[in-house]
Amino acid sequence: MARILTGIQSSGIPHLGNLLGAIIPAIELSKDPKNESLFFIADMHSLTTIRDAELLKENTYATAAAWLAFGFNTNDNIFYRQSDIPEVCELMWYLNCLTPYPMLANAHSFKDKASKLHNVNAGLFTYPVLMAADILLYDAEIVPVGKDQKQHLEMAQDMATRFNNTFGDVFVVPEPDIDKEKQLVPGIDGQKMSKSHGNTIPVFCNEKTLKKKVMSIVTDSTPIDEPKSTDSPIFQIYSLFLDKKEKKELINRFKTPGLKYGDVKKEIFDRIWTHFEPFRNKRNYLTNHSDYVKNILKEGAQKASAVGDDYLSRAREAMGLNY
Ligand code: TRP
Repeated sequence: MARILTGIQSSGIPHLGNLLGAIIPAIELSKDPKNESLFFIADMHSLTTIRDAELLKENTYATAAAWLAFGFNTNDNIFYRQSDIPEVCELMWYLNCLTPYPMLANAHSFKDKASKLHNVNAGLFTYPVLMAADILLYDAEIVPVGKDQKQHLEMAQDMATRFNNTFGDVFVVPEPDIDKEKQLVPGIDGQKMSKSHGNTIPVFCNEKTLKKKVMSIVTDSTPIDEPKSTDSPIFQIYSLFLDKKEKKELINRFKTPGLKYGDVKKEIFDRIWTHFEPFRNKRNYLTNHSDYVKNILKEGAQKASAVGDDYLSRAREAMGLNY
């Protein structure tokens, strides 16, 4: 059995890129009965940027509701809120004491912001240590993440190895699972879809908002009576929803003069709207029944803490903190 773990930032309502690029593939992975998955909402990581209690809560439940709406099975797996297991902060301290300053100063997530150091809080600086604690506390073997988290994963491996070399073998050295095949979902401007690029397509919204977003996907100025390029974001986005045969037909339509981008956009809107209808309904239901979601997260926290306690006591013992 492999223990799979991944954390999900609760920085907003998941968009098309989050869903196709991370949430749905992770849920698929969790369906293999040989695996046990621990998925959690990284609300303490979100505290490095969010300073609004209501917003943090709202994001946490919105994110959890999305995972549940897409069918994450919380009976066979563990779904919890990071902040429900404060032991992770204790482990973070132990790892802090072993982590060289230059390693953290080298993190892209820090370096990107280092030009405005007065905006960098210590939480942001030690973000990778909390992430390592998230992983090591639960003995996770496989950690599915996007490419942007690769360096953080390498740091977690480094910290596990350092701990084991210093105090004896306690932690499993985790393996990243960076899926190169993973769907690259372009945003409405053609760059990778990301909240920080402001180019996302929301999925859990009303019809009008979705239509507006889809209609604003960039197109080039190829005249109607010329063939169109399949590199265009509308081709790429539409393809995410097509099977092989449909994709072939779309290629033909792009090659044939006369295609109107506006028509394609309307089709894309219809596809996305109908494709996500059952999930949207489920998520709306869950959003209106937040007690149900809370209970699932609480049960998950109990299961997670049973796993975590064991590793934490071994770490304490190895360091001489036991009686
Ligand atoms: N930093 C991750 C992200 O932004 C979220 C995260 C927090 C995480 N802790 C983790 C991912 C542990 C994997 C394992 O995507």
